[in-house]
Amino acid sequence: MIRQSLKYRKTLTVLGVLSLLLFLFLILLKDNKGNGMNQRVIDDVQKLNYRGFNPLPKKDTLILSEMEKQIELNPKDDSTKQELLEAKSRIDQLEKKIAILEGRVPQKYPEVKFLGYKERKRILVTGGAGFVGSHLVDVLMTQGHEVIVVDNFFTGRKRNVEHWFGHRNFEMIHHDIVNPLYVEADEIYHLASPASPPHYMQNPVKTIKTNTLGTINMLGLARRVGAKILIASTSEVYGDPMVHPQPESYWGHVNPIGPRACYDEGKRVAETLAYSYAKQEKVAVRVARIFNTYGPRMHVSDGRVVSNFIMQALQNLTITVYGNGRQTRSFCYVSDLVDGLLGLMASSYTLPVNLGNPVENTIQEFAMIIKNLVPGCRSMVATGAAVEDDPQRRRPDITVARDNLHWEPKVSLQEGLQRTIDYFKEELSRTTFYNNQTYMDMKSHH
Ligand SMILES: NC(=O)c1ccc[n+]([C@@H]2O[C@H](COP(=O)([O-])OP(=O)(O)OC[C@H]3O[C@@H](n4cnc5c(N)ncnc54)[C@H](O)[C@@H]3O)[C@@H](O)[C@H]2O)c1
Repeated sequence: MIRQSLKYRKTLTVLGVLSLLLFLFLILLKDNKGNGMNQRVIDDVQKLNYRGFNPLPKKDTLILSEMEKQIELNPKDDSTKQELLEAKSRIDQLEKKIAILEGRVPQKYPEVKFLGYKERKRILVTGGAGFVGSHLVDVLMTQGHEVIVVDNFFTGRKRNVEHWFGHRNFEMIHHDIVNPLYVEADEIYHLASPASPPHYMQNPVKTIKTNTLGTINMLGLARRVGAKILIASTSEVYGDPMVHPQPESYWGHVNPIGPRACYDEGKRVAETLAYSYAKQEKVAVRVARIFNTYGPRMHVSDGRVVSNFIMQALQNLTITVYGNGRQTRSFCYVSDLVDGLLGLMASSYTLPVNLGNPVENTIQEFAMIIKNLVPGCRSMVATGAAVEDDPQRRRPDITVARDNLHWEPKVSLQEGLQRTIDYFKEELSRTTFYNNQTYMDMKSHH
């Protein structure tokens, strides 16, 4: 009896296992069929998507080859063909932009000297993303200092200093110096201010605020942290000068209510503030009166004579000389100016110092020099109406800089212009690529 019931139980167990296996087999079979169906549904959706082109599947190469197939399969379906061709050209454009961006990511940083704890300074450069500031930053960084750039990007660009992004000695602060700033620094180069007439005339009140409130903020910071501060002043403090060439002792001839006054008077107040802080608060100040400077990283549309003439010559447009062309300018290459700024900061000379190139040319001569430096240039040189308050003569007397800083410019006009033309050529190709436009309308304020 017992034996019989054991046998019966065994049979039941075997039957149970067998039905379980059958059940599992049926489930698997069903699943496979379902997957096949899902796949068919996905295929159909993809076909629809390729036709309707919305949304785009992820794999670009697959899409492109599928697009090409669709174009071939539906030669009569004009709207589809058009959509596919447009999408293909959009992808081509994006690929080109990516290639440019990849080219701009630096592989490694420019070489930087290692400075010990005692020699290494923390240096703040206001306006460090601008034309002059970014060249100064390059030198300070390669010398091995810690550099903090403060800029509101009104006229400056991140691109000017992007080759330092991520470097352990470099820091970038997006800040408007009209508002107070609290950082630690041993030296401050205060360069923040629009410098070209179209830029500083664009918002005259802001230009005055930057040069007065901004300068008070930087002088206040220098006082709090005990930093030495260099103020970037300008030859414009001499206005339309009655003395030629201009020595630092000349007090100037400025129209206080003219279109340039926001800048000229703003810088004159900045100088007054610097010497007031020096006298009253014992701040160590240096004042550089900078004359016309040019070089790579200038704004292509800054409206000054160098950029205007080069851009016009490169595009075979008429080179427009405002006024009779007999007004003179002297141009300093940016690396020379940066050497002068460094020399002034390091010196013990505390009065204002002219920094500029004393070699003087008329605007007319200058137009011809640039035309001749651009190979194959077919531009004509023409004269236009004079610009209000345009100074007639500008040339620095650099005796003070020679005697006290042992400084004078080294780069010749031809050499400096050639480097600048090369830079503008590259900028022009980049700009026309992005905007598909040329700089036809360049109003001059030289
Ligand atoms: N380039 C010249 O020929 C020349 C001549 C005389 C004086 N300067 C002086 O040298 C300095 C630098 O000139 P540049 O040619 O490099 O001009 P730039 O316009 O290229 O640089 C000025 C920089 O200051 C920044 N800036 C402006 N307002 C600011 C604000 N409120 N807060 C923070 N950042 C601000 C701009 O974004 C820009 O990066 C200026 O002070 C200018 O007045 C230049």
